[in-house]
Amino acid sequence: MKEIKLAIMGAGRWGINHVKTAHELLKGNLKIVCDIDKKKEREVKLISQSIKFDTDLNLVFDDKEINTVIVATPAETHFELAKKSLIKNKNVLVEKPITLLTAEAEELIELSHQQQKKLMVGHVLLYHPAINKLKNMITDGTIGKVQYIYSNRLNLGSVRSEENILWSFAPHDISIIQYLLESNPININANGASFLQSKIEDTTLTYLRYPGNIHAHIFVSWLHPFKEHRLVVIGNKGMIVFEDSLSQNKLKYYPKGFTKINHELTKFEGDFETIDFDNLSPLEEEQKHFFNSIINNQEPLTNGDHALEVLKILEEAQKKLYNFDTTN
Ligand SMILES: NC(=O)c1ccc[n+]([C@@H]2O[C@H](COP(=O)([O-])OP(=O)(O)OC[C@H]3O[C@@H](n4cnc5c(N)ncnc54)[C@H](O)[C@@H]3O)[C@@H](O)[C@H]2O)c1
Repeated sequence: MKEIKLAIMGAGRWGINHVKTAHELLKGNLKIVCDIDKKKEREVKLISQSIKFDTDLNLVFDDKEINTVIVATPAETHFELAKKSLIKNKNVLVEKPITLLTAEAEELIELSHQQQKKLMVGHVLLYHPAINKLKNMITDGTIGKVQYIYSNRLNLGSVRSEENILWSFAPHDISIIQYLLESNPININANGASFLQSKIEDTTLTYLRYPGNIHAHIFVSWLHPFKEHRLVVIGNKGMIVFEDSLSQNKLKYYPKGFTKINHELTKFEGDFETIDFDNLSPLEEEQKHFFNSIINNQEPLTNGDHALEVLKILEEAQKKLYNFDTTN
């Protein structure tokens, strides 16, 4: 394919990071940033006076030169904006979650095939070099058979009113666990509680059981005294901890566990080792992956199918939450 000619929809807290990154990567080929809030223009112009800004999204849909779109607006708008962009023959990177309903996600996937356009979803942590290193350490057998994974994503964070913490934080963790295990859960359970706003959970605990006696849980909260992003993977030969909230030594390998000697469970406990990984920006890697998938006509890693599986898990977990959270 020819050159990427990009438009970005949504320049809010996360969208502005897309603008900065795309401006660095594409310079003048970032053709326009659109946000319905005129106030966002100031922040966009702080990145570069040369970036065009408008509140009218039709300038993107109707511009035939623009072949690629990043949708970084709130989740409830993803379906409509991604659909319209695909219909108008544009490749789409839409932020997570892909849509709010599986039927909508399926429609986008189908449409992207019909239009022969790429559809990718911003599950940015799959472009984190530490997650790739961790995945390699599973694949090459370093920690043996995976038994258990857990993820804590906690902060005194940006409380949202349009979605609960499950939909806001857990897509990251679900996406990572799906990527690491390369299978789908056979059992999903979730509970949670609302304190700050009626019917919007501030904290949830999601439990996933995978084939082969592999278990996982995801604890997310925006009502927590400090930031903790910790992923722990337990294997029968060793354990890996990825703590993204630390400033350094984020990835560690622990040669620890139990083995059977003469039918007796015996502990082994080696010293932990810090694992180095490339210091690359996950968002920059994500955008590069998206642009390369278009140029080289390759399926993106976090394509519609990956995002659809994440969405199905979110939907099932949400059903369990309704039954559990008595404030609903
Ligand atoms: N991948 C990640 O790590 C990550 C991190 C944070 C947020 N996100 C996702 O990014 C998306 C945006 O999140 P945010 O934190 O930037 O939200 P935000 O509320 O800060 O910003 C959303 C922006 O979209 C604009 N907007 C709303 N409707 C629009 C429309 N129809 N057309 C154009 N602009 C519109 C709003 O004016 C606002 O500026 C969400 O889907 C969120 O889940 C992803």
